[in-house]
Amino acid sequence: MMKLSPTDAALFARRQAVMGTASPLFYDTPLHAVSAQGVWLTDSAGRRYLDAYNNVPHVGHCHPRVVQAITDQIARLNIHTRYLTEPVVAYAERLVATVDAPLNVVQFCCTGTEANELALRMARFGSGQHGVIVSDFSYHGNSSTLAALTTGLPAPEALAPWVRTIRIPDVTGCPASEHTAILAEALRAVSDAVASLQEAGYGVAALLLDTVFSTEGLRAVPEGYLAGAVARIRDAGGFFIGDEVQPGFGRTGGVMWGYQRHGIVPDFVTLGKPMGNGLPVAGVITRRDLLESFGKAALYFNTFGGNPVSAVAGLAVMNVLRDEDLLAYAQRLARA
Ligand SMILES: Cc1ncc(COP(=O)(O)O)c(C=O)c1O
Repeated sequence: MMKLSPTDAALFARRQAVMGTASPLFYDTPLHAVSAQGVWLTDSAGRRYLDAYNNVPHVGHCHPRVVQAITDQIARLNIHTRYLTEPVVAYAERLVATVDAPLNVVQFCCTGTEANELALRMARFGSGQHGVIVSDFSYHGNSSTLAALTTGLPAPEALAPWVRTIRIPDVTGCPASEHTAILAEALRAVSDAVASLQEAGYGVAALLLDTVFSTEGLRAVPEGYLAGAVARIRDAGGFFIGDEVQPGFGRTGGVMWGYQRHGIVPDFVTLGKPMGNGLPVAGVITRRDLLESFGKAALYFNTFGGNPVSAVAGLAVMNVLRDEDLLAYAQRLARA
């Protein structure tokens, strides 16, 4: 194990003293990052690391177009979100143009947690039901509601009585002849979870899944699994929330959204991490009817969600994805 330099050890001690030990740091020897550019991250000793992990600077660390956009906007105007401003509208238009019908509206917030919270509120409101189905090894955020359905990370909150969990099937290494049986068993588990929530009187408000199953270990589901699971939820009057916090914005290569690999369209798409290349931007894309009916009952606003600086960061990311043709580039690299 590498040892911390005396200066980094002192910084680490100051952090523990003032921030406590609860918030985790990567690596046995924490990495003191001081700067980054493109795919390279530089530490306090001047060592450079090829950054194949960091899942926030989506178009590369300190991309000049994102830096310029943020710098220009913060020098001009940055206010809370209850004013009419151009950048957020332009960003919303660009985002909504990338999803599939009938998805057609977006609400902004600041974190993936907030996005999943909002989607869950709307799903419960729209369905009039309360139960939620998640995978048995998942993470969707750090609020109390989401902690009560966290199965993939330690959380002191017990699993809520309105949660049922399902095992996500994985056909990696299985002969094709076994896929049908694996699919049937996995879908039976979804039906059982629905029935259990109904019997307990909760009904089903939502199936909440990461469409690339990242926390679960990037499972390769049999063809038709997600479509079958979503159909069972909708038959029960519930909605599908596709958590795109990890797979969104082309991360799976070739397509913009993870759900597009499964031939389905979620009722709610939740967004986060890569949107602002490091600025806290997140959102929920859904259907106008679901948003409007919720909006009549709830005054939802988010002070920082969609502020002008975050919006231009998001727009710059979209522009870079388009102008550098990054979705096709990812596919070319995968084939190389
Ligand atoms: C799949 C998924 N959903 C939601 C979240 C929560 O996002 P945030 O940390 O921005 O609240 C995470 C964070 O790791 C995540 O991996």
